[in-house]
Amino acid sequence: MTQDELKQQVAQAALEYIKGVSIIGVGTGSTVYHFIEGLKAFKNDIEGAVSSSETSTTHLQRIGIPVLDLNSVGTLEVYVDGADEINPHKQLIKGGGAALTREKIIAGASKKFICIADESKSVDVLGKFPLPVEVIPMARSFVARELVKLGGQPIWRENCITDNGCQILDVHNLSILNPSELERTINNIPGVVTVGIFSLRPADVVLVSKGQDIISF
Ligand code: 5RP
Repeated sequence: MTQDELKQQVAQAALEYIKGVSIIGVGTGSTVYHFIEGLKAFKNDIEGAVSSSETSTTHLQRIGIPVLDLNSVGTLEVYVDGADEINPHKQLIKGGGAALTREKIIAGASKKFICIADESKSVDVLGKFPLPVEVIPMARSFVARELVKLGGQPIWRENCITDNGCQILDVHNLSILNPSELERTINNIPGVVTVGIFSLRPADVVLVSKGQDIISF
């Protein structure tokens, strides 16, 4: 199976979790792309979706699913999203698609966070994937210097402006042995909007596509 077929397979498996749910939280990325395609079959059962990015919003609207404002829907039953890395504790690195802030908001506002990925995303220790950090533009260099003090090598993702009008630093060479501690530490740097460690609010269910199988934990 190709990587894209693995993504499609796991996205299909996630559809089991949205049966009977009227408003769904929807993430961003190439795995979620397949999940949104799968939502076409549930179009008449779904009241709407809360979207984590302009890209997913456009896709949802194109297939006829209303996109709702999180402020008007309260707590969500289910949120489905991908990840860049997943450890055995369901802690994640996210933000490869620059949507980490809205993704973290929706994860926090949801009762059940279903993370979907192909097997290449499974790791023992987070940090091989460069850690995305969304920053207020004027704080970029200051935050970068603070991240160097923490042992990382931040690289500015040039030509990337997030949906919130901010910028992204990708932090290389971090071995994240204590994800919750590092999430808090980076969150506390002035100018940081969001760090792409999802540990304080990890996934509740992880579905990983491996060969013909879906591994769930
Ligand atoms: C976007 C994300 C994505 O979930 C993550 O990058 C995984 O993307 P893909 O499914 O394309 O591999 O965090 O900000």
